[in-house]
Amino acid sequence: MAILVDSADTDEVRRALELGFVAGVTTNPTLIAKVKRPGLEVLDDLLRMTEGPVFYQVTAETLSGREAQAREAAAKAPGRVVIKIPATTENLALAARLGREGIRCAITAVSSAAQAYTAAMAGADYAIPYVNRLTRQLGDGIAVVRDCAAVVRNSQTKILAASLKTPEEVVAAILAGAEDVTLPLDVLLAMGEHELSHRAIADFAASLR
Ligand code: G3P
Repeated sequence: MAILVDSADTDEVRRALELGFVAGVTTNPTLIAKVKRPGLEVLDDLLRMTEGPVFYQVTAETLSGREAQAREAAAKAPGRVVIKIPATTENLALAARLGREGIRCAITAVSSAAQAYTAAMAGADYAIPYVNRLTRQLGDGIAVVRDCAAVVRNSQTKILAASLKTPEEVVAAILAGAEDVTLPLDVLLAMGEHELSHRAIADFAASLR
């Protein structure tokens, strides 16, 4: 069970890690493009900032290119870099190969329980469904999470829910069986807030006056 921060922005990641309950960092090519820095340089920085896992996605167009990227990134901190590999049959085979060598892999952009089950059979550490995107594209991302969690239940593969936009969506994903979640900073900060808690704090303060 873990909360991760989904960002490649070192200021945001620092703020998230300072909370003390954020276990690691996930990135993706879009998040890295946003900070306009080379991906491996960002990875180096993030590895220095946390002792937890840092997820890094391979992007090369060819399988051999993705394999080389995976090896280069994983070598930066063996056991702590988790290689994100988008779900395709070819990439699942790559994850199986890398996993046998001890490289941790996460199958990402998982859009069906079939892919999650295959990720488990490939020995991936994580299967990552993009919950909000799936809701927008298929109608019910939480149902996909529920099915994914059910099919990997007897494996070592964890469901890491991503693309989560509100605390309510985070809770729905966890109730559906996601073991870990990765959140952008704004959702992370919203998790611990509730209007009624602030009202209770104000009432206590008033009773002391
Ligand atoms: O990191 C992957 C995931 O969180 C993407 O989210 O907001 O682009 O659908 P989003």
